[in-house]
This record gives sequence, C-alpha cells and structure tokens, in this order.
Amino acid sequence: MSKGLLEGKKGIIFGALDDKSIAWKIAERAHEEGAEIVLTNAPVALRMGAINELAEKCNSIVIGADATSVEDLNNLLDQSMERFGGKIDFMLHSIGMSLNVRKKREYTNIKYDWMQKTFDISAISFHKLMQCAYEKDAMNDWGSIVALSYIAAQRTFPDYSEMAESKALLESFARSFGYHWAKKAKVRVNTISQSPTITTAGSGVKGFDDFFGYADRMSPLGNADALSCADFCLTLFSDYTRMITMQNLYHDGGFSNMGMAPEVLDM
Ligand SMILES: NC(=O)c1ccc[n+]([C@@H]2O[C@H](COP(=O)([O-])OP(=O)(O)OC[C@H]3O[C@@H](n4cnc5c(N)ncnc54)[C@H](O)[C@@H]3O)[C@@H](O)[C@H]2O)c1
Repeated sequence: MSKGLLEGKKGIIFGALDDKSIAWKIAERAHEEGAEIVLTNAPVALRMGAINELAEKCNSIVIGADATSVEDLNNLLDQSMERFGGKIDFMLHSIGMSLNVRKKREYTNIKYDWMQKTFDISAISFHKLMQCAYEKDAMNDWGSIVALSYIAAQRTFPDYSEMAESKALLESFARSFGYHWAKKAKVRVNTISQSPTITTAGSGVKGFDDFFGYADRMSPLGNADALSCADFCLTLFSDYTRMITMQNLYHDGGFSNMGMAPEVLDM
C-alpha cells in the first residue's frame, strides 16, 4: 500500500542481516514508498548472502562497510553518492552487538576491551558515520538521520548489560550531532526507541522470550513489531517531520509511560 511518501529520495540503510531484521523491513518499505536505496552491512554479514535477495527486491546495490572503520564509511558514502548522482536524503543506523553479552559475561564481570568494542560497534559508529558525512557535506538540505535504540538507555533491564550504556551513548550522539547537522544543512537526527522485537540481535539477550511477553502485556497497544517500526521510520525520512530533531522517540505501544498493568499481575 504505497503512498509515494519517499518519491525521489535517496538513502543508505545499515543493518539488514536477514528478513527478521528491522532494517530489512525498513528497506522494503522505503523501496515501496519510492526511495532509491543503497544497502550496507559488515563484510562478515554479507557473507551470509541474504542481503543480496533484498537488494534484488529493492533494485538496490550492496556496499560492504564495517561501521567502525572510517575508511569503509568514507568509501560507502563516496560510492553511494556516485550511484545516486548526488547527495543523500536519509541514513538509517540499525546496528547493535555486544561482545560481553554474546560471550555470556555477566555485567558484574565485564571484559573491558570487549566493552570498548561494543561501544564502537553499537554507538561510536553512529558518530563516525555522521562525522564522515559531515566532512564530505554528503547530506541534502532537510535530510534525515535515524538510529534505533532501546529504553534500557533510561531504565535498568539487567540482562541488557553493556548495551544499556551503548544506547545511552547513541541517543546522546543524536542530540549532540543533531545540533551541528541542523546548523549545517537543516538535517535532523533522531533515535527510535523500539519495543523488543524478535530478530538475531534481540534474541541474543538472555531471557528474551519471557521478556518479550512481559513487555507485550505491559504495553497497552502490545509490542510494536518490525513492520510498524519501518512505517514510523519512513515518516521520519519523509518531508512530514521536518522540524523533529535531537529526539529519542518511543515506538513501544505505550510501554515507556506505564507504571503497572493488571495484565502482568494476572499471569
Ligand atoms: N530486536 C530488538 O528487540 C530491538 C529493540 C530495540 C532496538 N533494537 C535495535 O535495532 C537495531 C537493529 O537490530 P535488529 O534487532 O534488527 O537485529 P539484527 O541482528 O538483524 O541487526 C543488527 C545488525 O548490526 C549489524 N552489525 C553488527 N556489527 C556491525 C559492524 N561492525 N558494522 C556494520 N554492521 C554491523 C549486523 O550485521 C546486523 O545486520 C540495533 O541497533 C538494535 O539494538 C532492537
């Protein structure tokens, strides 16, 4: 059901690993709404191959980039602008990975070199992307940059471990760089704080399935799924949200403003 919301817009989408990825749904919907897109992911993810299916479906190309490498990001931006024949209208950062969580280290027994790598992948990469694009003047006026976040940036969810600090850092980069992008080219920078969603990254968190059900009952509208996240994200890429910037926007079925839900007590 296309409304041509992104007709004529060109954007880069990070983070589509497989068809469960939130970025996958965003890419499909952006294409349906008329955008021209470039897909990117880390070289190791590209080897899995699924992204090529998505590229075919979206009439797109895939350019590999490790989001922690400034060299890769510069190359990605150059190649994308060449493909588009001009500057970029929107970018999606949909990247998260925790080494300590993946290797099952408890929060009270963190390995710090892994923590630094986690921050680099999950948050500093967002600053790197924005800085590379800023230096190249790669964004069109009134463009839009979005990253995906989670409410553990504000509240404690013990099993989310060091990803909580990653998301706090990510959201802070959106505010701080949002100022500079607004002044430079009226580009807006926001984060979407999304409900728990069944994906490779989401399911890597201990107790995810139980927590998913809990969040669903706590949220009066239920958990927001990946497709509705994609629809919301498109509005942020579109011209209908030009004055929204430096915000962390909850897309969570109401979870963030709940105190107690009888549905949880009734279990
Ligand atoms: N799934 C959830 O419950 C949930 C909830 C809120 C926010 N988020 C956030 O949404 C975003 C997307 O996650 P997802 O749930 O779709 O899972 P996903 O596993 O499908 O996506 C994570 C992506 O990060 C990519 N990535 C990892 N290291 C990278 C690197 N060095 N360079 C480039 N890309 C790299 C992976 O290849 C993968 O495509 C993440 O920021 C995640 O924290 C997820």
